[in-house]
Amino acid sequence: MSPRAFKSRRTTLAVPGSNPRFLQKARDLPADEVFLDLEDAVAPSAKARSRELVAETLRAGGWEGKIRAVRVNDASTGWAYRDVVEVVERAGACLDAIVLPKVSGPRDITWLDLLLGQVELATGLPPGGIAIEAQIEDAAGLASADEIAAASPRLEALVFGPADFMASLGMRSLTVGAQPAGYAGGDAFHYAHMRILVAARAHGLQAIDGPYAAIEDVAGLERSSASVAALGYDGKWVVHPSQVDVVNRAFSPAQDEYDRAELLLEAYDYYTGLALGAATLDGEMIDEASRKMAMVAAARGRAAGLPRTTRFEPPIPG
Ligand code: GLV
Ligand code: MG
Repeated sequence: MSPRAFKSRRTTLAVPGSNPRFLQKARDLPADEVFLDLEDAVAPSAKARSRELVAETLRAGGWEGKIRAVRVNDASTGWAYRDVVEVVERAGACLDAIVLPKVSGPRDITWLDLLLGQVELATGLPPGGIAIEAQIEDAAGLASADEIAAASPRLEALVFGPADFMASLGMRSLTVGAQPAGYAGGDAFHYAHMRILVAARAHGLQAIDGPYAAIEDVAGLERSSASVAALGYDGKWVVHPSQVDVVNRAFSPAQDEYDRAELLLEAYDYYTGLALGAATLDGEMIDEASRKMAMVAAARGRAAGLPRTTRFEPPIPG
C-alpha cells in the first residue's frame, strides 16, 4: 500500500444517516469532511434502513472536494459487519473512509482492515483504498493508543470522542466537550488530547478532536478549537452547520503565519543551495527543524486555500 496522501480535515461534519434532509444539506456546507452516521445518531430500529439511505446518498454524488466517510457501529455490536459490507458493497467507489467508533484495542482495527480487504477484493475496488479513522473514546482505547495507531496502513486519523470518554471515566458533566464543573486542575481533557496526539504523530496520522455539543456557545467552541489547534491537532468534529466556519477558521493558519512559513521554506532552499551552512530569515537562524515546522504550517495554509502575499528576496551580494 503506498503512503496515504495528506488530506485537510479542519472540519468533520457529523450527519445522522437516518435523516434525508440533513444528508441533502450537508453537500452544500464547506466542511473538509462529512461522515454519514450509522452509530449513535441512529436509533436501533432505523439502522437497517439507514444503511440503504447512506449508500444511496453517497452514490448520488455532489460531494466534490470533501472527504466522504461513514461511521459504522462499533466492533462489539451485531450491526458492525453488515454496516461495512452493505455500505462498501453498494457505494465503496464513492467512499473515502470508515470511521470506527469505540476502538478499545488494535484488534478492532485489524478486524475492520481484513473485512474491508475482503469486500474490496470481491467488488473490484482498489485494495487498501478505503481509509480508517479510529475513534478513541474510552479508558481502554486511550491506554492502547499506540497499538491502535500502529494497527493498519489504512489508518489516517485518530479521533478523540469526548462524550463516550467522559462517560467511560465518570467525569461529572453532561455537556459534551465542555469542562466538567468543579474541576480545578486546568483542562480536564489535556492528558487524553496529548496522549492521542503523540500516538497519532508517532505513526504519521492526523489527530482530530471530537464535538462541542453546545451549539449556541460560539465562544466556548472557539476556545475549545483554538486550544487543540495550538496543541497541534489537525481539526475538530462539528455537529451543526453554524459550527463549520468557526472551526475552519480555528484550524487554518493566520495569513502572516502562512506567509512566514512559505518564506522560511524558500529561504531555507536558497541557503542550502549555496551550501554555506548558515541560513537566516529576517535575522533569525533557521535550520532543518525550522523547515519541518514550516512544512506543517505551509501545508495547512495551502489546504485552506490561503493566497501568497510575499516572496523571498535573496540578499543582494555586497
Ligand atoms: C463522539 O462520538 C463522542 O463520543 O464524543
Ligand atoms: Mg462516541
